[in-house]
Amino acid sequence: MADHRREQLAAASGRVVEIGAGTGLNFRHYPPAVTEVLATEPDPYMLRRARVAARTAPVPVEVLRAPAERLPFGDGEFDAAVSTLVLCSVRDPALALAEIRRVLKPEGALLFFEHVRSENPSHARWQDRLERPWGWVAAGCHPNRDTVAAVERAGFRITSLRRFPFGPPQPARPHAAGSATRPR
Ligand SMILES: C[S@@+](CC[C@H](N)C(=O)[O-])C[C@H]1O[C@@H](n2cnc3c(N)ncnc32)[C@H](O)[C@@H]1O
Repeated sequence: MADHRREQLAAASGRVVEIGAGTGLNFRHYPPAVTEVLATEPDPYMLRRARVAARTAPVPVEVLRAPAERLPFGDGEFDAAVSTLVLCSVRDPALALAEIRRVLKPEGALLFFEHVRSENPSHARWQDRLERPWGWVAAGCHPNRDTVAAVERAGFRITSLRRFPFGPPQPARPHAAGSATRPR
């Protein structure tokens, strides 16, 4: 997973907003081209751990308590946005993506690494059946969300995309890693 994080974040530069930062596992992977990360996380326990991780990050990281559906930033403030394993768990993915779009500059990049709905119909049906019990054991995670389609529906232009299975067989795979641009 660390390799995927590093690879995904390599393209980040300038001011970055990260949603659902969790315990801050991405922080150590931000490249030197990043001038500042404003990381958001709604869960107070995760937030505390993220603030500890921020202290040893190679770039300046500030962690704020906020849900992705209501980002405490102005329009067009960021060069890039990062979402890793978050859009499966947010209450309202369309609203979260609209917020990300709002705070990005025109031509700003959304870098994502998410587990997504399978393109195999029988596997997707299995994900649908397991959605509720999976959510109980995995903190509200929805294994069957078509996050790539949601990114496109939110008005982003996908510029790179790799779909692949990662980790042991379980509902929360395959994964999709890519980048998308906020059009002008
Ligand atoms: C599986 S963890 C991933 C954490 C981190 N992004 C990572 O890659 O390690 C999912 C995270 O999404 C956060 N989350 C849940 N609902 C959210 C929301 N509405 N807005 C932003 N983050 C949310 C959770 O608190 C948790 O930290």
